[in-house]
Amino acid sequence: MAHILVTGALGQIGSELVPALQAQYGRENVVTLDMKSQPAGFAARHEVAKLPAKAVLARVIKKHRIDTVYHLVSLLSATGEKDPSYTWYLNVQSLKDVLDLAVEHKLKIFWPSSIAAFGPTTPHDQTPQHTVLAPTTMYGVTKAAGELLCQYYFLKYGVDVRSVRYPGVISAEALPGGGTTDYAVAIFYEVLKTGQYECYLKPDSMLPMIYMADAMRATIQLMEADPQQLTIRTSYNLAGVSFTPAELVSEIQQHLPLKVSYKSDSRQAIADSWPNSIDDSVARKDWGWRHEYDLPRLTTTMLEKLRVKLGVK
Ligand code: SER
Repeated sequence: MAHILVTGALGQIGSELVPALQAQYGRENVVTLDMKSQPAGFAARHEVAKLPAKAVLARVIKKHRIDTVYHLVSLLSATGEKDPSYTWYLNVQSLKDVLDLAVEHKLKIFWPSSIAAFGPTTPHDQTPQHTVLAPTTMYGVTKAAGELLCQYYFLKYGVDVRSVRYPGVISAEALPGGGTTDYAVAIFYEVLKTGQYECYLKPDSMLPMIYMADAMRATIQLMEADPQQLTIRTSYNLAGVSFTPAELVSEIQQHLPLKVSYKSDSRQAIADSWPNSIDDSVARKDWGWRHEYDLPRLTTTMLEKLRVKLGVK
């Protein structure tokens, strides 16, 4: 039976990955760690700690007899540019600590990479699995370095570490914090609250996105896959749906009136350096990945969930 630790458990991905893991492996078997205390009833066992802190992680791993870690702690792209040194320290050092502990305790690891590992010189359309990784944000630099670190620990020490390059993740539970793709979540809150939204990206800025339920399925499916099937130990390309702000706006307008203005900020340059769409055929071939949410389904689901959450009719 898996004894799982999820770090960064109260972030955007952790908030939905933890319930998904609890449903799959049992509530008692999922330990959560975050710098914040847990909301009532979130996890059976929760540890409060600020990473990087290798000694603390080692203690938690021993105390709960952990065999699998989903290491989600990270600063995202826009926040990362405000304090690049700290972003490097947090994102890379905490991953290295987890990988070193994986060698010592024979842990299986999931670590998320991102479309941010790509950069302006990467082919932007149907970005291939094996391509140029020359990111221009510190967040992207930590993802590219982290991917190589994961592969190094697999090759050198046999650590069973698995990873996907998440596109922008769209979800109705926790808000993403400080990313470039966050507009595609924020716009749903604003259409229901005010009917207006000022978008910080240009209307034609296409980015790869994925609905949370698909992202969770991909994560658990990859972790359950037969290791013999896996040919990538850096990080797998993962695609859901690609769209521009203008396309998302017109999809939402099928349901509700929405007035949008566009005013680009520093996140525009980050978005411009990232792909438009992703070729995830290797993930499809190796472990049977298929996305289920297209733009219409994602839009309907977000509006339904947020209507309930925000108490809007
Ligand atoms: N969603 C992330 C960001 O925008 C990309 O991994 O920073």
